[in-house]
Amino acid sequence: MRISNLQSLPMTTFSEENSYNKNNPYSSQLLVNRMLTEGSDKETRHFELSLKDSGLSYEPGDSLGVLPHNCPKVVEDLIEATGFTGSEEIEIAEEAICLKDALTFRFACTVLSKIQIKKFNELAQSSALDDLLKIENKEALIEYMWGRELIDLFKEYPQGELSVEDFVGLLRPMPPRLYSIASSLSAHPEEVHLTVAVVRYDTHGRKRKGVCSSYLAERVGDSIPCYFHPNKNFKLPDDTEKPIIMVGPGTGIAPFRAFIEERKATGSTGGNWLFFGDRSQKTDYLYGNEWEIYQKDGLLNRLDLAWSRDQDRKVYVQHKMLEKGAELWEWLDDGALFYVCGDASRMAKDVDQALRAIAQEQGSMSEEDSAIWVKSLQKEKRYLKDVY
Ligand SMILES: Cc1cc2nc3c(=O)[nH]c(=O)nc-3n(C[C@H](O)[C@H](O)[C@H](O)COP(=O)(O)OP(=O)(O)OC[C@H]3O[C@@H](n4cnc5c(N)ncnc54)[C@H](O)[C@@H]3O)c2cc1C
Ligand SMILES: NC(=O)c1ccc[n+]([C@@H]2O[C@H](COP(=O)([O-])OP(=O)(O)OC[C@H]3O[C@@H](n4cnc5c(N)ncnc54)[C@H](OP(=O)(O)O)[C@@H]3O)[C@@H](O)[C@H]2O)c1
Repeated sequence: MRISNLQSLPMTTFSEENSYNKNNPYSSQLLVNRMLTEGSDKETRHFELSLKDSGLSYEPGDSLGVLPHNCPKVVEDLIEATGFTGSEEIEIAEEAICLKDALTFRFACTVLSKIQIKKFNELAQSSALDDLLKIENKEALIEYMWGRELIDLFKEYPQGELSVEDFVGLLRPMPPRLYSIASSLSAHPEEVHLTVAVVRYDTHGRKRKGVCSSYLAERVGDSIPCYFHPNKNFKLPDDTEKPIIMVGPGTGIAPFRAFIEERKATGSTGGNWLFFGDRSQKTDYLYGNEWEIYQKDGLLNRLDLAWSRDQDRKVYVQHKMLEKGAELWEWLDDGALFYVCGDASRMAKDVDQALRAIAQEQGSMSEEDSAIWVKSLQKEKRYLKDVY
């Protein structure tokens, strides 16, 4: 069977450095895989990947795209649920490959999409899925997809005889995952570092894991297919005297480790203020020793920490911002750039709201004016976000 929507993954050579991308990834050796949250019920890891002799470069603020492989057990279970053996031969970009290898290296075979459920239902003809796919049931569909995987469709809506062509027709190419880079090349020549929250949860009677975060978490010394994804909109100011305010709870801390390393390497004199937060100071203080040293050395002028689960009520980074509203307003008045990284769904919105509240309180602005002021900060490229 010929699959035309997938490109093969060729071996890369160092001379092709500029052409590395998701279809032609660079093979980087994983040098370090270290737990950052020992004792926590959450698993966040630090990774160091080698760029040795590749000539590749990146800037603080950029991301790394990683092309993961699916877990062998996940592939095995899916093959069993669909009634195949795994040895069925298919063709991808004129290359013959067995189904098991295609599921391991080429296709996404966990996270569901609406189009996939639609295609599945063309075969399954289920009235329950028909209902779920109706436009008015958008929310219910999102809820159904959250925490379910392709295997659940086969278990919940058993298929009769299924051809390998029909099955492969349901699959989409493995999408890369982006990770904000946590290192500066000036501090770590020929290396790129990442900070990754490993997705693990139990749903519908099965233990699940995020494809890419667990792929990285379960590897040491392997070659990782990856490529750089530049982000022009999340950069340090060219003027090294400009102060910066960084808000990065959880894995949102990643680019700020890169920023501080770069500020140190370039001898920047502008002030540096970091707001970091996570569950508990004892177990989730990501790179805590580094922040303490930077603070002692005077490079990190202000450090505000929000531990959400160290007391009865939740304390988040935006609460710390509000507590320090007067000084934060002064920094912004002095021309500081304001950066936010991490969760887009709630945190970034709450931080935005806190910024408006500070403008209202400290700048005596109306609600409307504070919204205009925040927009103007964005327009001036002084309010920059890397949220996901
Ligand atoms: C620009 C950018 C930068 C990023 N930077 C970072 C970074 O620095 N560090 C980082 O860790 N991540 C970062 N991410 C997120 C990262 O790209 C991945 O999305 C993340 O690692 C999850 O990928 P995965 O393959 O492990 O999980 P997937 O296999 O993609 O699984 C995710 C799916 O699992 C399900 N799911 C997840 N949690 C639960 C739960 N609790 N209950 C039920 N279902 C659940 C949902 O269906 C969800 O869609 C970034 C994303 C972007 C876009
Ligand atoms: N399933 C898992 O085991 C697991 C664990 C961690 C992360 N993850 C996933 O990994 C991704 C990234 O994790 P992460 O480490 O970057 O972040 P995170 O674990 O989601 O959150 C980091 C910190 O931000 C706090 N927070 C929660 N809501 C907030 C808000 N509205 N405003 C400000 N702070 C808020 C959290 O507090 P509280 O959590 O105490 O509310 C925590 O202290 C998330 O998308 C998450 O789904 C999965």
